[in-house]
Formats: sequence, structure tokens, C-alpha cells
Amino acid sequence: MADLLDCRLALVFPASRVLRGLALLSTVALAPAVATAAGDTVALSIDAAKPGARIDRNLFGQFAEHLGTGIYEGVWVGPDSPIPNTRGIRNDVVAALKAIKVPNVRWPGGCFADEYHWRKGIGKDRPGTLNPNWGGVVEPNSFGTHEFMDFVDQIGSEAFVSVNIGSGTPQEAAEWLEYLTTDQPTALGKERAANGRPAPYKIAYLGLGNESWDCGGNMTPEYYVRQMTIYSRFVRNFNPAQRDANKMLRIAVGPGGGEPRWTEWTDTVMKAWKGRQWSWDMEGLSLHNYTVIKWPPAYASVGFGEKEYAEILKKTLEMDGLIKTHAAIMDRYDPEKKIALVVDEWGAWYAKLPGSQDGFLAQQNSQRDAVLAALNLNIFARHADRVRMANIAQMVNVLQAMILTDKAKMVLTPTYHVFRMYVPFQDATFVPVAFDAGWYTQGDVALPRVDAMAAKDASGTLFLSVTNLDPNRPVTITASVSGMKPRSVAGETLTAAKVDSVNTFDAPTAVAPKPISAKVEGGTVTLTVEPRSVTVVSVKP
Ligand code: AHR
Repeated sequence: MADLLDCRLALVFPASRVLRGLALLSTVALAPAVATAAGDTVALSIDAAKPGARIDRNLFGQFAEHLGTGIYEGVWVGPDSPIPNTRGIRNDVVAALKAIKVPNVRWPGGCFADEYHWRKGIGKDRPGTLNPNWGGVVEPNSFGTHEFMDFVDQIGSEAFVSVNIGSGTPQEAAEWLEYLTTDQPTALGKERAANGRPAPYKIAYLGLGNESWDCGGNMTPEYYVRQMTIYSRFVRNFNPAQRDANKMLRIAVGPGGGEPRWTEWTDTVMKAWKGRQWSWDMEGLSLHNYTVIKWPPAYASVGFGEKEYAEILKKTLEMDGLIKTHAAIMDRYDPEKKIALVVDEWGAWYAKLPGSQDGFLAQQNSQRDAVLAALNLNIFARHADRVRMANIAQMVNVLQAMILTDKAKMVLTPTYHVFRMYVPFQDATFVPVAFDAGWYTQGDVALPRVDAMAAKDASGTLFLSVTNLDPNRPVTITASVSGMKPRSVAGETLTAAKVDSVNTFDAPTAVAPKPISAKVEGGTVTLTVEPRSVTVVSVKP
């Protein structure tokens, strides 16, 4: 299956772009792919009057697991730390995350969630427990429920809490939600108040287990459905402010890859949902997909060449086919698209950094990851009618992180910069872009030379993202815009000296966005983008 996908992506991707373009703009004749690829110009056609789905801001969500130094060190240093903090949470990390307007944070896992017992993480006495999934280290439980809620509050985000279905009980999860959300003077409500929080918390999203087919309990789809429906019934949100508007959305475990067992999983869960009784429901189905060539991950996160760059990008583009496959199954049971597809774990997973601890999933983050992030965000935006939430793995110090920390030092990664540049796409309206991407080839890997995605905000400003996958050739973009009169254009671009350029604690701004010059003339926006770059421009009417 994976091989077939590889083949299809390598051989057909540019052609499918042409087909999509023709479907979107049936009156526009596009030049054949090869002719465009030979030139240094790619023509885009944008009809700003043809709006699509809303690009939900939740597509830019984060995932923060108790794993390695993702929470401890990365977020939590404790109130007595010399590292500047507010109630134990690092001020530098909070400021950086505020700037990318994180819409939601998924916590506490991951595999960790299905072994997490929330009572260990409240109150004064916090017992040390084990974290068997991730290095077998001691989990101090000093970052628990109140600390997480304080953290999302400090960064201005929403809580996405995953409950323990694998090794917990419905009672334990139900009591956690009562503790978090009741405004009544129950024992749990009083306990929360005694622990410093009289008012109920808002829990916007609830994960009903994690990877229950694997680390979350090795369940069959049928067994999972039985468990999940029990949790869906009893794990209630009692916050009066979430009764009608702002209802908590429940996200069931979904597929985790391209094998047939995953289509069976999606089919079983969706079929159960279609035949549901009044007593349970769900609002989202999760999908996990990491960019990894093969398990265990062997590709290096730094110190690689163009071959690995191209291979990883080819692999990451499989996200599109995966979403299409599962969205098609969902359409059969839910043609009105009530259930969101939630890609709540995605990103590049490379070999661990030499010298780093086993199970900590520490990796560097390069310009390749910036390009990879943009390609995935563009895919999500194109499927915005069904994909309404996504969470990159993971927020700090783990896998494809936004931020790396080393004691008091912090560095922003190339991926972070893409998330910052994409902020205007949050809740904007998707606008179709027709183009012939042309080819970039490396050995036997053929990739679209460019990718482009556009959206319009409430004020009528058009935002255009252009990704130049070609690591060697700049490309001039001519975007002819109809449906609005473009008057001015400005923006920024992110590129780097090499595909594996990274930011380090000694050189934290080696990869950083810079302004790009672009012009508007007679309804056409023109700009030249550098090799291996991600660019976002705003076009004002
Ligand atoms: O993100 C690391 C791990 O990857 C998560 O804990 C798990 O859900 C997935 O397998």
C-alpha cells in the first residue's frame, strides 16, 4: 500500500494538480506540466470571489506530552527556578507561544495519557510515578491538572484533555471532568476550590483515548467502540458556560497509517456513530500520521543532504491521500460532515539526536521541517471542510518542535516561524488557487516544484502562501487575482543557506523570516521566491 502511494505521488502528483486546477477553474486553460516546469515562472490563478471552507484556527494546534523534556524543562521549571517563570511556567516559552496564537494544546499524551492517573497530579503531595513509555523515568507529577490549565490560560489557548481509556476506568475519567468543570459544591468541586480554583475550568476538547489500537491498549475496533461509547456517556462536562454554546467536543481514536486495518478502524467507528443511540455521541475522529521513512526512524534531523530532503518531502505528501481515504469513509456515514477529522499527531519523526536519552525523542529542526510544515498545513487547509483540527507533535523539545530549550536558553525553530507566518490563515476562508506546479526531481524522486495556498480574512485581505520545494532554483510567481482588486502586497519569506540549516543556542537566528519584495500590477501579484523557502504575502484590496 505504502509503495503504491509512493509511486502514485511520484508519478502523478503534478498531473493531479492540473486536474484539480481545471476542476476549480474550468475556463482557465493551463499549460502542460512539463512546459511550465522548464521555465522559471509558475503562474497562479486565484479567484478571490470563490470562497471555500473556513480554515479552522484549530488546525494550528499543539501537542504536549509528558515525554522527555517536553513538559519538564520545556514548559515547567517550578516556581523556585532561577529561570524567569510565572507560577513555575517559563516566561520565555509562554511569550513565544502567545505570538503564534496557539488555538489548543493536547495533553497529557500520547501514550502517556493512557497510563496517567490525574489524582497523582493535584494537591500538595504529589507521588513520583513511572513513565514507562518514555525512557522509564520518574514522573514527578508536579505539572498536573492545575498547572496545565494555568499554562493554557497564560498562552491564551484552549485545553484538549485526553482521558485514560487504556488503564483507567470510566469512573476515574468522569471524576476528573467533574473535578474540572462542576460549579456545584460537590466533594470534587470543593476539592478543586481548596486546591486554588473555585471557578469551573473550560475544557474545550476531550480525547477519548489515544492510539487504542496500539500503546493505548491493543484494542480491536469493536472493543474500542464498546469502551469509547461508555466514556462518551459518562465523562460529562458540567461547566454551565459550556452547556449550549462552547460545548466540549469529544474526539474518538481514529486511524494511524495507510494499512487496511486503519480503513477498517475508521469504518467501524463511523458505522457505530451512524447507528448511535441518544446516550452517546462524538464530534471528532482522530488521525495520526508521522512523516517517517520506516520504523524505527533512522533519518537524521540535521547533517543530511538533498536526497534525504526529497525523500522526506515525498513521504510527507502522503498526508493528502491518507486524509482523502478516511474522509471518503466518513462521507459514507456522515455526508453532512458533522464529525471533524482531527489530525492530532503529525510531523517529522527522525532518529534521536546523538547523545540524547533513549525514549526522549529529541531531534533538531531544519529548513526541511519548515517546508514540511507548510506542505502539511496547506493539505489541511485544502481539506478544511472535514479536517477541522490538527496538533503538531510536539510543542517543545520533542519531535518536530516549535521551541528548543537548554536550561535558561530558548531557540525558535524553522517550524515555529512557519506557524507564526501562517497566523493570518487562522479562521480565514479558503480560496482556491489553480496552478501547474511543475517538477522538482532528485534521483528517482519527483515532487511538485511549488505549492500554493490562499485564504481571505474578514476584512477582505487575501493571504497567499508559496512554498518552493526546489532546493536549487528560485522561481518567479505570477498570481493573477480576480474577484478583488489587489492594491498592495507585502510579506515575509523563510529560507536558509542549506536544506539542513538549523537554529542553535549559539546561532538562534540562522533561519529566520525576512521581508520579501513583491509587486502588484493590473491585478497580478509578482514575486520571486528563493529555493527551499516558505513565503506568505498579504494582498490588500
Ligand atoms: O508523539 C509520540 C507518540 O507517538 C505518542 O505518545 C503516541 O500517541 C504516538 O505513537
